[in-house]
Amino acid sequence: MEKKPILELKEITKRYPGVVALDQVSISFYSGEVHAIVGENGAGKSTLIKIMTGAISPTEGKMFFEGKEVIDNSPQKAIEMGITAVYQELNLLKYLTVAENVYYNRFPKKGPFIDYQKMKKDAGEVLEHLGVAIDPAELVKNLTVGYQQLVEIAKSLSRTVKVIIMDEPSAPLTNNELKYLFDIVKKLKDEGLAVLYISHRMEEIFQICDKVSVFRDGHYISTKAVVNTTKDELIKEMVNREISDTYPQVEKELGEVSLEVKGVTTSLLKNISFSVRRGERLGIAGLVGAGRTETARAIFGADRMEKGEIYLNGKLLHITSPADAIKEGIAYLPEDRKQLGLFLNMSVKDNLLFSYYPELAQSRLINNKNATEVCDQQIVTLKVKTPTREQLISHLSGGNQQKVIVAKWMLMDCDVIIFDEPTRGIDVGAKQEIYQLINMLAKEGKTIIVISSELPELMGISDRILVMAEGRITGEVDRDTMTQKKILELASVER
Ligand SMILES: Nc1ncnc2c1ncn2[C@@H]1O[C@H](COP(=O)(O)OP(=O)(O)OP(=O)(O)O)[C@@H](O)[C@H]1O
Ligand SMILES: [Mg+2]
Repeated sequence: MEKKPILELKEITKRYPGVVALDQVSISFYSGEVHAIVGENGAGKSTLIKIMTGAISPTEGKMFFEGKEVIDNSPQKAIEMGITAVYQELNLLKYLTVAENVYYNRFPKKGPFIDYQKMKKDAGEVLEHLGVAIDPAELVKNLTVGYQQLVEIAKSLSRTVKVIIMDEPSAPLTNNELKYLFDIVKKLKDEGLAVLYISHRMEEIFQICDKVSVFRDGHYISTKAVVNTTKDELIKEMVNREISDTYPQVEKELGEVSLEVKGVTTSLLKNISFSVRRGERLGIAGLVGAGRTETARAIFGADRMEKGEIYLNGKLLHITSPADAIKEGIAYLPEDRKQLGLFLNMSVKDNLLFSYYPELAQSRLINNKNATEVCDQQIVTLKVKTPTREQLISHLSGGNQQKVIVAKWMLMDCDVIIFDEPTRGIDVGAKQEIYQLINMLAKEGKTIIVISSELPELMGISDRILVMAEGRITGEVDRDTMTQKKILELASVER
């Protein structure tokens, strides 16, 4: 007997001015299966989800749930049917507790009052069921991004659910938290839910998914059982070309020491010392809370140093703010780009050039033609998918927004560039473009520091890796001797 799909889309098309986000897409999803959806940035994955959850309406096409056509889908209707989504952007209220977030907008009541006791207890049960060790009374702002993601999942599961859609749930997670997520996905599948899983990390598709569908440019390309395909085959279908060398290398020479960090101590860091040479790509590895981002922030003047000195090309720097750092030639692409990097109500062009204008102005290049040229060049280099440079950045897909911010920092003419998770949410093809740009910057003699939670990536693009744990440097490995095992050992050193 053939299994019937729980959710079926037929010839769905979604058009925006100047963009066909989805073109005649037909696809089915089944209970008890984890179904991956992959595709380049802007392929139409998030659009597909928004149609299923009733957040947007398709221009054409039909949707069926448990065999019945869904007319006029809406967020309310989707929730009633049991379709829920964990979105690419977190939607938690940071100054409320975990329990309040899980039950936001439908707090349990005792008479006219919110029943906090019950809310805490119920939220506790949802979390426990998920196997997540989070206190429901904790304020969300005190959790790591990874744990916040797990709360987001708990929130969507606090009602009856038959289909759960996860849009890049693993992007902000590190190894440890990832294990939680995988356990949760497996559990939901065993309970008979249909799980839709969107990710740019190819490895995990083979770890936890049963099926995988490829989208390209708004078109549905294929669906396969995971056991019947390979990473290379999927990538080829996604980008429509071969990507052979995932981590390209360039011939380059290491110059003199440029950046020297001596005894840097903050409320979280203990006596951090290292130096990096011109043309070198230094990776920093570590688990959550190891102090990787804090190290970058201290160098960049974003956090106050209690002790320590930073030298650039032999000169002692007095950095008390990011503005000082940029002036001295140190750039930092932050991890939390939604907060620190984007102006959602501005165009792609203005986002790209915002920090670059002073630079252009200084060298007196600021005339519209030139700014436009610089901007278009970056759009082409990083393959930012946008109809024009004047498009509002909020209308770009998540990954394409990321590319714009990365492009923007690459435009800064600094000696030292620190990248914190530069490829988060970025597709395989564009990742490679970013690696190539990093190589090019190194070859030009810039000093590069990269923080990444994806070890294979970090190993692929670093000349040397510092490993941190609990606010200290616990070891160092270089290109010829680095292994995943060695790095993980150093990262979990206890004192
Ligand atoms: N509100 C909108 N207005 C105009 N264009 C839009 C809008 N929303 C999405 N698009 C366009 O539709 C296309 C598909 O976007 P979508 O967000 O579905 O991509 P995605 O596959 O989720 O990509 P990513 O991996 O980057 O998240 C993109 O070209 C995007 O710019
Ligand atoms: Mg998306």
